[in-house]
Amino acid sequence: MTIETSKQNMLKDLTEPIAEICKRYPTRRSAIMPALYLAQEKYGFIDQPMYQVISKILDVPEIWVYELASFYTLYQRKAIGKYHLQLCTNVPCMLRDAYDLVEHVQTKLGIKPGETSKNGLFTLTTVECIGSCDVAPAMMINQTYYTKLSKQKIDQILDQLSETKALPQKETLSGKKPGAVS
Ligand code: FES
Repeated sequence: MTIETSKQNMLKDLTEPIAEICKRYPTRRSAIMPALYLAQEKYGFIDQPMYQVISKILDVPEIWVYELASFYTLYQRKAIGKYHLQLCTNVPCMLRDAYDLVEHVQTKLGIKPGETSKNGLFTLTTVECIGSCDVAPAMMINQTYYTKLSKQKIDQILDQLSETKALPQKETLSGKKPGAVS
């Protein structure tokens, strides 16, 4: 499928739901973030063809869409694994051995921060704080929080998730293979 055909399909899929989103906001600019989130939920990630589609639907400059998509870590700009591990390494977590945990995950999954496992299941990212400092060390996997982590607890979680079937490797809308997380 060419990028142009993908864009036409996305335009068709997203025009109506984004129009619904717009009804809740005073200006079209305010609807950019929820529109990006909607697109990500539907396609798994957002990249330049998607910025163009959203800017067209909302009738706002593409740069406004890009600025928000690139500023917030909430948005994935490349294809990532089915499970996105965001391990916190900020001070409270670091003082409770977060770096050891990162190393443990790296060894277990054979990936470094920013990489996706070959079977497409896991992407590892280190993050600054996920608001769970009182129950450090902590990580998020997709939308779920895991706290008071230990190597054993991480092993249990990852072993359970590994039982899920590996996904076929996705391509980004620009046709690139999944790789490092931006
Ligand atoms: S420092 Fe790790 S959750 Fe806040």
